[in-house]
Amino acid sequence: MNIILCKDYEAMSAIAADIIAKQVKSNKTSVLGLPTGSTPIGTYTKLAEMCNAGEIDFSSVKTFNLDEYYPIKRDNDQSYYYFMYKNFFSKINIKPENVHVPNGEVEDAEKECKEYEEAIAAAGGIDLQMLGIGQNGHIGFNEPDSELYPFTHKTSLTENTILANARFFESASDVPTNALTMGMASILSAKKIIILINGANKKEATKALLKGTVTTSCPATLLNLHPDVTLICTEDAYCE
Ligand code: GLP
Repeated sequence: MNIILCKDYEAMSAIAADIIAKQVKSNKTSVLGLPTGSTPIGTYTKLAEMCNAGEIDFSSVKTFNLDEYYPIKRDNDQSYYYFMYKNFFSKINIKPENVHVPNGEVEDAEKECKEYEEAIAAAGGIDLQMLGIGQNGHIGFNEPDSELYPFTHKTSLTENTILANARFFESASDVPTNALTMGMASILSAKKIIILINGANKKEATKALLKGTVTTSCPATLLNLHPDVTLICTEDAYCE
């Protein structure tokens, strides 16, 4: 795993944005895998600035988001669909038909997951996947478990994740208890992966990731199976 240590959030965001910009400049039809959460917001802001300055062009880029709460309406301000438009898609020249976020509104979650996986394959697979990480080592909504489902699927959220995400809702009881998420195999199929880790509350997750072993009880450790992963980590989140 390549490791880039950054002094703070600002530096982490700038480095991640540069890597994504380089990808899009080298291939204007790039397929990007994107996360939500507080961690990537700075990266999205910088990419939007570059786009508005005419430095990068998203008009032929396709995106696939990692996950979405389930069930949730897309116009709910806590949905990841809403988050992505607010923080990124509304600020760049991406075409709406090139944006993919698992649909938390559908009745048939299984069908949605199957079609999502097919859409990634039809786009030619993900060229660059950006990731955040949960405090418990979750990736997307692949939660620590004795077994993991490899492809896009519906899953239930752990207590830990519901509590961690409650800060965005009125109360923990308003956090949806289920989600649709790309699986670890979907994620590991990306040609390149960057994972952003910010803040001292992620130290344990960083430590588990850098131990180099693999366990489903910390889904992030499965990234050790991929040949091209770059960890972009703030100093306060770093822990060997
Ligand atoms: C959510 C998302 C993850 C994200 C995680 C960390 O649970 N499903 O994809 O990585 O939160 O969020 P934050 O960056 O706010 O710590």
